[in-house]
Amino acid sequence: ELTVHTDPAELAKVTRALRGVGRKIALVPTMGALHDGHLELIKRSRRVPNTVTVVSIFVNPLQFGPNEDLAKYPRTLEEDLARCREAGVELVLAPSAEAIYGDDPQVTVHPGPLGEELEGAVRPGHFAGVLTVVAKLFNIVRPDYAFFGEKDYQQLVLIKRMVRDLDFETSVVGVPIVRDPEDHLALSSRNRFLSEAERASALTLPKALAAGTEAAIEGAEQGVAAARAVLDANPEVVVDYLELRGKDLGPAPATGEARLLVAARVGGTRLIDNTPVLLG
Ligand code: PAJ
Repeated sequence: ELTVHTDPAELAKVTRALRGVGRKIALVPTMGALHDGHLELIKRSRRVPNTVTVVSIFVNPLQFGPNEDLAKYPRTLEEDLARCREAGVELVLAPSAEAIYGDDPQVTVHPGPLGEELEGAVRPGHFAGVLTVVAKLFNIVRPDYAFFGEKDYQQLVLIKRMVRDLDFETSVVGVPIVRDPEDHLALSSRNRFLSEAERASALTLPKALAAGTEAAIEGAEQGVAAARAVLDANPEVVVDYLELRGKDLGPAPATGEARLLVAARVGGTRLIDNTPVLLG
């Protein structure tokens, strides 16, 4: 049975009562337009024993820049609720911006230096908006576990860092990227804006990451160069960044586990993707 709350305070009462009777709470924060990537987070949360899953559906205005796609961000609440119901979710929080932010909010979470790099360099203020809403959701729901996708790898790293630095009592669980089973494009709510030709161009991203992963056996430089060559071969793909970093997004190590990250625009659509790599 699925209950939808629009009032954060009402949901807060429910999650506290459930914890009082020994249930654990898992939170899956989303902006809706749910696809199989979001569903994977929900499924993982449902596998934790004795746990109630809360899905939040909230298009957070604070994390969109003035020239970004807030107004045209897909809103599909009825379909989202049907997907949640089908997945066995018991609680959804679908609040208005007013219910979350009230009148005149002033205080936000500062992400630190990593918030200015990669995505943060292209989207000033984005991660302050993300961390602020996630901190608020954590305080409303008080989850024992919170699930985030590696699709937004920098977001995942910054949320883990916030939990550590600000003493949140939530275990953050990262979930690998869910891709289209046929063409390997990372699932995203924004993929619906791609024309057929643009989608074909978008596949350059996973192809570049695959080439980079393979070449990285020879070393970091070779890995980045191989990925860059694939991206450069497609003029329809405008790259914002391609970077090899450490797992925590510090400098890449000489050998061992690292992360290759890319962001690019195809037509009017901005895409991000990343992959783990093992540097030889
Ligand atoms: P949204 O883009 O809706 O994504 C919600 C969650 O689903 C994020 O943790 C994201 O990484 C994950 N996700 C999206 N596509 C995925 C895929 N293909 N594979 C695996 N996981 C995927 O990220 C946000 O919303 C917002 O920034 C939010 C955290 C909700 C704060 O507003």
